[in-house]
Amino acid sequence: MKKAGTNQKRRSPIICRCNNINEDTIKQAILDGCDTLNKLFDATTAGVGPCGGSCRKVTGPILEYYLQNKTFPASAKDNSSTSAKGTSKK
Ligand code: FES
Repeated sequence: MKKAGTNQKRRSPIICRCNNINEDTIKQAILDGCDTLNKLFDATTAGVGPCGGSCRKVTGPILEYYLQNKTFPASAKDNSSTSAKGTSKK
């Protein structure tokens, strides 16, 4: 019998609900070379769902933070309040 909490995987939060894209997928695409939002959208399909891209307010700051710091913010939710003005490409 397993002890509670001994085999739990961390769940990556869903960033794009339209296309069910989680934070780890976004981060991996950035690590794989996506350095613009359009490249990120093409690689993951995040930001191009039927809602019109409401998740861009989260993906933009993650990308911007990475490009400036070469690391990721502790949590996408922590960084979502800092708008990535100028990085959103519609
Ligand atoms: S939540 Fe990402 S496109 Fe709708």
